[in-house]
Amino acid sequence: MSDNNSTTWDMTPHTKAKHEILKRYLSAWFPILSKWEMRLIYLDGFAGPGIYRGGELGSPVIALQTAVNHVLRPRFKEITFLFIEKDKARAQKLIQVLKDQFPKLPPNIKYSVYDAEFAPTFEQGLNELEKQGANLAPTFAFLDPFGFSGLPMKLIGRLLKCDKCEVLVTFMTGFVRRFNDELRENALNELFATDEWEKIREIGDPDAREKFLLQLYESQLKKLGGAKYIRSFGLIGQCNQTIYYLVFATKHLKGLDAMKNAM
Ligand SMILES: C[S@@+](CC[C@H](N)C(=O)[O-])C[C@H]1O[C@@H](n2cnc3c(N)ncnc32)[C@H](O)[C@@H]1O
Repeated sequence: MSDNNSTTWDMTPHTKAKHEILKRYLSAWFPILSKWEMRLIYLDGFAGPGIYRGGELGSPVIALQTAVNHVLRPRFKEITFLFIEKDKARAQKLIQVLKDQFPKLPPNIKYSVYDAEFAPTFEQGLNELEKQGANLAPTFAFLDPFGFSGLPMKLIGRLLKCDKCEVLVTFMTGFVRRFNDELRENALNELFATDEWEKIREIGDPDAREKFLLQLYESQLKKLGGAKYIRSFGLIGQCNQTIYYLVFATKHLKGLDAMKNAM
């Protein structure tokens, strides 16, 4: 299992499944958008160290490999990979892993690693673009935190509103069993951009709570981000409990179709 303090941790079967979905989706997304756009952005807001304890590769490497090894890669326009990781040691590890895995990148593929927190870093980037009157390039954001803090719905909504931008978020529902302290309340208000989640206090059944929260999360993505299509995929653990949902939000039918195939 993952532990939240070490630089690397053990890979789990559900992480493997998550990476497979990511890889399949990006294999379709890169060529679809590369046909029309000069520049694409792949954003991994909770990037991790790029490698697991047993040597398996992390999401940043998988995303880069998908682009670099793609048969249509020579025809892609520029793809910039942005990796944000708050933990210093993990960010350093990621820099090293990327250097080892990609000693030389093709000229149309670039990446940067930010040793920083996702929300303030990305918000600042959006503010700067806004000041310049510039638009964010079409972006696929993979947001994969350990828990649910540092993932404000308002910011995801702002990202989704940009043209051709989409998100794949790990939505942790484990907190439905333990939500009773002020710190969590603030984080949950930020996660949903509403206090409507508090209604789960009136729902006794944990499965019904989970369903309610997932629906609330999905409807907030529509309301704040204008997402037209949402596709959620539950990853089930050994004890038959949902560990988390991968929630995909887009405004484009082609994106939805590609994600359906990937999932
Ligand atoms: C679930 S792991 C990411 C795993 C990675 N996406 C993968 O699939 O290989 C979550 C990572 O987010 C980092 N993290 C936690 N809070 C963060 C924040 N607010 N901003 C950026 N990174 C954060 C953690 O240090 C951890 O490395």
